[in-house]
Amino acid sequence: MDEKAIEKKTIFSGIQPSGELTLGSYLGAIKNWVELSDTYNCYYCIVDMHAITVRQNPSDLRRRTLHQLAQYIACGLDPMKNTIFIQSHVPAHAELAWVLNCYTMFGELSRMTQFKDKSAKNADNINAGLFTYPALMAADILLYQTDLVPVGEDQKQHVEITRDIAQRFNGVYGEVFRLPEPYIPKVGARIMSLTSPENKMSKSDKDPGGCIYIMQSPDDITRCFKRAVTDCETCVRFDPSDKPGVSNLMQIYSVATGASFGEIEKEFEGKGYGDFKVKVGESVVELLRPIREEAERLIADKTYLESIYKEGAEKASRASAKILRKVYKKIGFVER
Ligand code: TRP
Repeated sequence: MDEKAIEKKTIFSGIQPSGELTLGSYLGAIKNWVELSDTYNCYYCIVDMHAITVRQNPSDLRRRTLHQLAQYIACGLDPMKNTIFIQSHVPAHAELAWVLNCYTMFGELSRMTQFKDKSAKNADNINAGLFTYPALMAADILLYQTDLVPVGEDQKQHVEITRDIAQRFNGVYGEVFRLPEPYIPKVGARIMSLTSPENKMSKSDKDPGGCIYIMQSPDDITRCFKRAVTDCETCVRFDPSDKPGVSNLMQIYSVATGASFGEIEKEFEGKGYGDFKVKVGESVVELLRPIREEAERLIADKTYLESIYKEGAEKASRASAKILRKVYKKIGFVER
């Protein structure tokens, strides 16, 4: 049989350990990653090198990186089926990023919306790493000949610049890199902040009540949902532009329970938002309970986590070595 025909397509994605994982990262990303595990050859990375483009407290960064690994696994990502690793453990990422920096233009980096946002937010630390962040992300993706990159809308521009960089390189040296495409899952939920539902739920949210964390206690979760912003209409109806708060809660309830929007509207017909918010909170508590408990168990098992990230780094190093060697050869570096 033709080997190529049965070869699985490759997926790469990553999340920065710059904060604890949120309900949004679970429902919007990791839950989908789990579903892709069987069909694709998947690399899921903890991108600690990207995280240091804004100042991090060292012990927090170390703790969050390990927590993130435990939570990936607790969310159902199987380390036997996927390559799960920490970015800084695979030096090829830094090496290829340097090369790609030399094929990335000042002008195109200046147009990146994330750079503009982040430099506005970190005006006292607009460092070169923040600026060349997309070249490192391009290295992450291109090292594995990735076909598809599951990302949210906000990262699409970074996948596009990755394609531009790859095309520019291929234009000079021949077909070296495969051109990746963003993969925006159809059923992926875009979870918004509970207190400002016009914005994505984010670990960098200034208002602590807007964001639910995977590891948060049931009491805290319940409290956040009770305080969630709704509107003055008192009618549970899905309408993201007119009723962003209520629609977001419906979206969450729908993924947590499997109920359709129609079913949810019927369930809460004639009832107040109070009831509705309590029910949504309960559904999230029950959704996250087994994940939190499993993650806590894994966090306590340092030896297990270490064996997983070491094996992940080995697999990723092996998979990426070939392409880096090819790049070095093409650009004229003497073979080591
Ligand atoms: N920039 C991404 C984010 O902040 C994280 C990331 C880094 C990533 N490298 C990646 C995502 C490669 C997908 C593929 O969300």
